[in-house]
Amino acid sequence: MVYLTKDEERALDGEYGWAIQVAMRILVKLGDLFKADRLIPIHSAHISGVSYKTLGDAATEFLEELAASGVKVKAPATLNPAAFDLERPQLMRLTEHRLNAQKRILRLYEDLGVKQTLSCTPYYISKPPRNVHLSWAESSAVVYANSVLGSWTNREGGPSALASAIIGATPNYGMHRPEEREGKVMVTVDADLRSEEKFGVLGIHLGKVLGDEIPVIQGLKSPKERELKQLGAALASSGMVSRFILSQKSSSLPQEKISVGERDLKNSLSDISSEVEKPDLVFIGCPHCSYSEIKEIASILYGKKVREDVRLWVCTSRHVKRTSKEYVEIIERAGGKVLCDTCIIVSWIEELGIDSLLTNSAKTAYYAPNMNRVEVSLASLRECVEKACES
Ligand code: F3S
Repeated sequence: MVYLTKDEERALDGEYGWAIQVAMRILVKLGDLFKADRLIPIHSAHISGVSYKTLGDAATEFLEELAASGVKVKAPATLNPAAFDLERPQLMRLTEHRLNAQKRILRLYEDLGVKQTLSCTPYYISKPPRNVHLSWAESSAVVYANSVLGSWTNREGGPSALASAIIGATPNYGMHRPEEREGKVMVTVDADLRSEEKFGVLGIHLGKVLGDEIPVIQGLKSPKERELKQLGAALASSGMVSRFILSQKSSSLPQEKISVGERDLKNSLSDISSEVEKPDLVFIGCPHCSYSEIKEIASILYGKKVREDVRLWVCTSRHVKRTSKEYVEIIERAGGKVLCDTCIIVSWIEELGIDSLLTNSAKTAYYAPNMNRVEVSLASLRECVEKACES
């Protein structure tokens, strides 16, 4: 049983209103299920389930009731992407019904006091310090926070992240406990990982093998930040991995060992990537692009033109778009589009006449055939951009 303070008990008994009671019930249920000893304060919450495509009507009704109660989030809270770019709603060509339903969801979150960041890389907007507790619900951001930033979060669902935001706390179990953050499987990689999409393929392979176990990965030679982002996003797509470790004290290295070679990566690549001769869409920005990725795309595009018969879409947060304005201009002048607030997985791109896409994201390659009914081919960021420009 989760130990509750007197004040938390009052919240659970409904003394502060039904909305706080519901939020507290969600946290206590989760805590009991996973044997948490108490609730611990959080530094921030990040809420998924924002796009109308993934949220649907029933959950929107629930949000409506929460907002009508007047409750506000207690901890700083941010939002995952929605179904369209707020400044270019026409691009996704949503039906009137979907557009209004999405706008309604955003209004409701705003009423609850949640910041409209609409990005899956909240850490590029405001980086949480090391060793703070978070309640984040975007799986790629969860792995990034635990593995790269050194912050502590379980892989929350949208409702539990929102409940944590309202209460300002999360149950103390899983990734919040030092002993559960240790690596459980030693992974030795003996393969040539030359670019970020290869890290994604490694993540897809390992996610399937590991399930939710934490790997200690050896053999990655000075990986870049964006490569680790792709690795984490993919690990959390084919598996339920919440953290990876690149070095751990030799005294506590795990006994269980696996190795990964070129053949494993080749097999995983062929599972998620098809031969697409002329993609309808070249998509970069899953997870949302960083400043340095936008800069690199611009440098490849400089002086070139995107072909007439292909769309080049780059997704990022509004914050990163603002800070990389000069590079955004180069991309857009060349014929690409830098979109904010959204991504292709959480919108209906299949209804835009897009049947095939080229991307550098293994996570997109993993989900898009089902979520968007499109054929996907995987390549490096450079290859993607160059392919969009080839005549
Ligand atoms: Fe982000 Fe969409 Fe990928 S939410 S992690 S760009 S599927």
